[in-house]
Formats: sequence, C-alpha cells, structure tokens
Amino acid sequence: MRLALALIAAGLLAACDSGTEERDAVASTRTVQRPYLPIPPGVVPQGAAAREAALAPPGPEVTRELLARGEERFRAFCTPCHGAGGRGDGTIVSRGFPPPPSYHEERLRSLAPAQIVQVITHGKGRMFPYADRVPPKERWAIAHYVKDLQARGTGAATDQGAARP
Ligand code: HEC
Repeated sequence: MRLALALIAAGLLAACDSGTEERDAVASTRTVQRPYLPIPPGVVPQGAAAREAALAPPGPEVTRELLARGEERFRAFCTPCHGAGGRGDGTIVSRGFPPPPSYHEERLRSLAPAQIVQVITHGKGRMFPYADRVPPKERWAIAHYVKDLQARGTGAATDQGAARP
C-alpha cells in the first residue's frame, strides 16, 4: 500500500515537471510569432467572393432534381405567404399579413430566375430576406420552381396542395 502511494506521488511529481516543461515550450513559440500582415487593398475575402459567384446567372443547370428540390423548399419557405399556387393566398395572409402579388401577374411573369434569386437574397418591400436560411443553390432551385409554376399558369392550383396538374 505504501509502495503504491509512493508511486502515485512520484507520478504526480513527474507530471508537475512535464507541465513546467510544456509551459516553457509554449512561451518560447510566442517569441517567434509575427504580427498579422495588413490586408492589401482590393482583396475580397474568399467566402464572400464565392457567395457572389454562386448568385451570378445562369446558376446551376436546371434538372428534374433541382426542380424537385425547389418545390420542396418553396413549400417550406414561400407558401405560407405566396400560397402553393403562387397566387398570394398563403395561410399567413389569411391571418392578416399584407398579401404579396400573384406570381401570375404580367410583371412577375417577366422576372428572370436571377431576379427571383435576388428577391430571396435581399428581400423586397415587406418581404424579408431569406439569405440566412436558404443557401444559394436552393435559391436557384426555388427560382426555377417559381418559373415552372408560372409556366403552368394559375390552373387548378390551390393553397391546399395539389399544385401539380
Ligand atoms: C412572410 C411572407 C412572405 C414569405 C414567407 C415570402 N414572401 Fe415573397 N413576398 C411577400 C410580400 C408581402 C411581397 C410583396 C413585397 C412588396 O412589394 O412590398 C413579396 C414579393 C415577392 C416577389 C415579387 C418581387 C417583385 O419584384 O415585386 C417574389 C419573386 C417573391 N416574393 C418570392 C418569394 C420566394 C421565392 C419566397 C420563398 C423563399 C418568398 N417570396 C417568401 C411576402 C413573403
């Protein structure tokens, strides 16, 4: 028993010693640390440049998968106000939120997908931006789904679902 205690004590002492050594090592690396270099003028952080590029037209290729993803995201984020058929009759509107214009109006029918991506990114008027919740590729997916909705016309789409003919 005594031997065991003596071994533990020796171990603790050894640990203390190595701790001291580590502190010394850390202290010595501090002396070789260099100050940060100033950022040259005109340099754009990589993340920001990549984000801008992801929003530039033409965006990702329009595939079935992209449209399906767009529909799914549209239903999650946009139908509460715009309605499943895009006629501005979502459930939030029925609770008193100012109604958005119908996607089937002439002016909105002429919006390019890139313009819809901009509306999702920056918001517009009473509509707030969705940049923090919808990543760029999904903004394109939603934009193309909106164009798809417009191409199919008002049809029989209702807010209760069954938007697809
Ligand atoms: C909280 C309600 C709400 C949600 C959710 C919403 N919008 Fe809107 N949206 C509006 C309103 C209100 C307007 C009209 C804005 C104005 O002109 O003041 C609008 C306008 C628009 C316009 C027309 C912009 C123009 O040029 O006039 C587009 C396109 C649009 N929204 C797309 C979307 C998409 C895509 C989503 C989902 C990512 C979405 N909105 C989610 C309320 C909403």
